Parts: sequence; C-alpha cells; structure tokens
Amino acid sequence: MAEKVVLAYSGGLDTSVAIKWLKEKYSLDVIAVTIDVGNERDFTAVRQKALDAGAIKALVIDAKELFVKYFIFPALQADAIYEGQYPLGTALSRPLMAKLLVDTALDEDASAIAHGCTGKGNDQVRFEVSINALAPDLKIIAPAREWDMTREETINYAEQHNIPIPITVSSPYSIDECLWGKSIECGALEDPWVEPPEDAYTWTKSPDQAPDKPQYVEIGFEKGIPVSIDGENLDGIALIQQLNEMAGKHGIGRIDHIENRLVGIKSREIYEAPAATVLLQAHQALEAMTLAKDQLRFKQKVAQEYADLIYNGLWFSQLNRDLSTYILSTQRYVTGTVRMKLFKGNSSVVGRKAPKSLYNLSLATYEKGDQFDQSASAGFIHLWGLPIRTQAKVQLLADKEGPLSIMEAKNPGGKIE
Ligand code: ARG
Repeated sequence: MAEKVVLAYSGGLDTSVAIKWLKEKYSLDVIAVTIDVGNERDFTAVRQKALDAGAIKALVIDAKELFVKYFIFPALQADAIYEGQYPLGTALSRPLMAKLLVDTALDEDASAIAHGCTGKGNDQVRFEVSINALAPDLKIIAPAREWDMTREETINYAEQHNIPIPITVSSPYSIDECLWGKSIECGALEDPWVEPPEDAYTWTKSPDQAPDKPQYVEIGFEKGIPVSIDGENLDGIALIQQLNEMAGKHGIGRIDHIENRLVGIKSREIYEAPAATVLLQAHQALEAMTLAKDQLRFKQKVAQEYADLIYNGLWFSQLNRDLSTYILSTQRYVTGTVRMKLFKGNSSVVGRKAPKSLYNLSLATYEKGDQFDQSASAGFIHLWGLPIRTQAKVQLLADKEGPLSIMEAKNPGGKIE
C-alpha cells in the first residue's frame, strides 16, 4: 500500500493540482483536509472536488468554535494588530490548521503533510514551524514551492489530468478568508499607487454607497470577551458574523497595508475586517476605562510583541504562554458595554460604561461636585518640575544648542504685525 499524505485542501487550483502531483511525483495517496474557519464556502462541493481530483479520502473539519475561543478572542484581548493595521485573520488561522492537520495525519497513519503555499509568503513559515513543533517526525511537502510551474502551466496540468478547474481561477486576486477577515493580494493590487478596484472588496460596501444614516450598536464585554450585541447574548461565532455583516454594510474595515513580510519583502495587502475593526476599537475603549495608565502603557508593548509572534508563526512557543498569561490577567475588570456608531466607512466609539470603571466623574468634572483638590496641584507641580529646574540652571540656560537654540533666531517666523 502506498504511503499517505495529508493535504491542506482549499478547493482552489493549486491544491487540486497538488492531489495528482503528489501521486505522480511521490507516489503518495492523498487525504484532503479542508478546514472551516468561517470562510463561508460550499464545503460539500469542495470535498467532492477533492475526491474528483483523486484524493482517497476528503475530510471537512468545522474549526470555527476552536478558532474563536483559542485564537480570535485571545488576540482581541491582547489588542493584537500587526504594524498598526492588520488584525491577523489569516495569520491566526494557520497554527490552528497545523494542529488539525497533525491530528489527522497521526489518526490516519500518514507519513507527511502537504500544503499549497508558495515560497514567498508567510503562511508556509507558519504551517511548517507549527507542524514541526507539534510532530517533528512528519515530513512536510510544499508542492507549489517545488513544482516550478507558472499559473498557466498549472492550468494546463489540470486540463491534462482531468482535474476540474475551479471557477475562482478567473479571479485576479489571491484570497484567504476566515471569521476575522478577508485577505486579498495580487493582480492590480501589486501596484501600490493603484487604488484597489471595487471588485477586490466583497465583504464591505463602498463607503460612498453605504447608508446615509448612522447605525448605533452596543457591544457587551465580559473580561475582555464580547458576549452581546444590543443586549442580546450571542456565542462568539454568531457575534462575529453579525458584526461582519452589520459593519460591512457601512463600509467599515477596509485596510490597505504595505506590509513587511517575514521573508523580507514588502507587499501590498488589502484586508476586509469589519467585525475585527469594530471589536478591537470597542475593546480598547473599554480598556481605557478600566485599566490604569501604567497598565495600558505596558499592555501596548505586549500587544505589539503578541502581534509579531502571531504574524511570525511562533504560536506554539512558550513566549505565547507567557504573554497570554499576562494578557489574561489584565482582562479581569474589562467588563462593560461600549456603544459604537457605524457610518460611511467609519466606526467610532461614542459611549462606554463599566462596573469597575476608573473614570471618576467627581474627580473629572468641571461642574458642581468637584472633589479634586486643586490646591494640591501647586505642590505637585513644584516637585514634578524640580529635575527640570535643576537641570536648566546648570546646563540648559548656559547652552546655545538643544531646546533653547530656537531663541537664537530672532523672530524665527517673521514679524506678525
Ligand atoms: N499577508 C497576510 C499574512 O501574511 C495574508 C496572507 C493571505 N494569503 C493569501 N493567500 N491571500 O497573514
């Protein structure tokens, strides 16, 4: 009997061709595994396509619940956003897929795992680093990195081998979707000067086509996890789906990013992430109410580390464990409700409340009931400014360079009559 390989199967051209190619080149029987992370497809058809292309077995795994609980929500609690722009949908899904591929390979007694990534992207790194960490003895094969065929040659190969060519081949873009967002690249998008054509977007309305009236939505959080929309409790999957739709209608969540890939190149990536955009914003607004200044400052650094770790394929590291322990600890009081206004491509925070809020009206108010002791400020300023006064006397006032050099130029901005 031939040895078996578990293939991460998307239903697209490359992975369909890979089924035959793995048999021809390596004499391996292919078990196709398609993982549903919320990419709304007809999975029955995808499964059938794998069998038609010659897979000996085709499995579809619904991983949405795992994805939300173990990947999306921890990333949301962390406020993980890569380079200030990308909410990391694709990047978060890869370690989960790797885990499920490994489980299947062990169950099915396969000797290898194959994926359809090219040699230029981040996903190959995320898959392989994760698979190697979880099952160091499994071989990894990356057909699209090995076979050296152009897109056209791949289509020819499919035709010659009677592999049904997916209609998606007509799409000029390379697309990856999950609950946390859609990633779009290639085609016209490769020119960073070109505005993304409207057909690149399918999850979001163009902001100028969006409704002329704003929509308000209240999102309830418990310990940093969103649990309700407008007072109605929802499970994570439904909540994210509902927000993707609602915010997408208002044109929210379009992201145009010149991104630094792990493999060293800059690439132009378009994302549609309506739910992620709204939830990250709302979550941060609630943290602003419930975390102290120092906690917020420190957590921002952790958020960046965490985003890099996710992006760079290091999910199964102990650093993840260390950082997520810290992040969870910060979420203890991040409970409350945030009101968002969705309008013409923008979501804005317009209200927030939390039972353990640190915002104290009687300290902040300029109206009656002010409990802030304003007379104490004079002494505070005296001590706060002490190091500056000391330094100015000894160094600054005698120094012609540095912050005082501006004084050298008389009337630097010209005289205003
Ligand atoms: N640049 C993103 C990342 O590395 C998205 C990659 C999306 N892949 C795709 N086939 N379009 O996470």
